[in-house]
Amino acid sequence: MDLELQGKRAVVTGASKGIGLAIVRALAAEGASITAGAREGSQELDDLASTADVRPVLVDLSVPAGPGELIARAVEHGGIDILVNNVGAVRPRLQGFNAITDEDWEWTLSINFLAAARTMRHAIPHLSERPGATIVTISSVNAFLPDPGVIDYSAAKGALTNLCKSLSKELGPRIRVNTISPGPVRTDLWLGSGGVAATVGGASRTAAEDVIRQQEAQAATGRFTYPAEIADLVLFLASSRAANITGSDFVIDGGLITTL
Ligand SMILES: NC(=O)c1ccc[n+]([C@@H]2O[C@H](COP(=O)([O-])OP(=O)(O)OC[C@H]3O[C@@H](n4cnc5c(N)ncnc54)[C@H](OP(=O)(O)O)[C@@H]3O)[C@@H](O)[C@H]2O)c1
Repeated sequence: MDLELQGKRAVVTGASKGIGLAIVRALAAEGASITAGAREGSQELDDLASTADVRPVLVDLSVPAGPGELIARAVEHGGIDILVNNVGAVRPRLQGFNAITDEDWEWTLSINFLAAARTMRHAIPHLSERPGATIVTISSVNAFLPDPGVIDYSAAKGALTNLCKSLSKELGPRIRVNTISPGPVRTDLWLGSGGVAATVGGASRTAAEDVIRQQEAQAATGRFTYPAEIADLVLFLASSRAANITGSDFVIDGGLITTL
């Protein structure tokens, strides 16, 4: 299937590793030109930039000025057809709701909600100039599977999915806006040294591998999703093949969510 992404100009946030890096890699393989935003960057992203039309931009997207800086760099390089809001982060909250401070809430809302809201505010005037423009946002099953262990992250992702649905109505038919809600994905967010498995395991004296196994067992497929599988869905939603899909949310969780 030709996704007709050759020559399209994309912005991907949180692009140095995990799901964001997989999305950059997949878009580059389709011949798109990508502005890739991350705070610290990575060797993998630099390697990709040396072989494909990929420009890493190092910027802190959790501060008010960050998203505007990233979009300005993308506009300098020829405009924007596709925005992928991928950046996000989680800190498990093992002491309960009352232990979450204002600073904690500000951190969570900044990186998981405001970063995308600000990026879209800056990008929309430029996306509006392009036929077939589209926004794909990586939310989470926690948007509708509230979890006290990640209570602030769940609330922020719920707000993010809600915002994108509203925007699909405001921007249709000029710009299509969709969200993807992954369950657990094989990235540092879950599997890294400071990730969910290590943090939750550390608090309950359970090995991280056992936390992962217990989580995997909850999915009908018995496994986490691979970043490349999320990237494939992003590619389809960003392509003209999905031209009449907007305001939709796509769950990719191996059957973790058991309700309709
Ligand atoms: N992994 C999962 O199980 C899962 C499940 C559902 C939804 N999601 C969502 O998927 C998205 C990607 O998650 P992931 O698992 O790929 O995470 P990850 O492996 O931790 O990667 C996060 C990316 O975001 C960047 N980043 C973090 N803070 C940043 C900041 N302040 N400014 C700029 N860039 C920043 C990181 O770059 P630097 O290292 O350079 O800062 C990195 O490129 C997130 O929105 C997450 O909520 C993930």
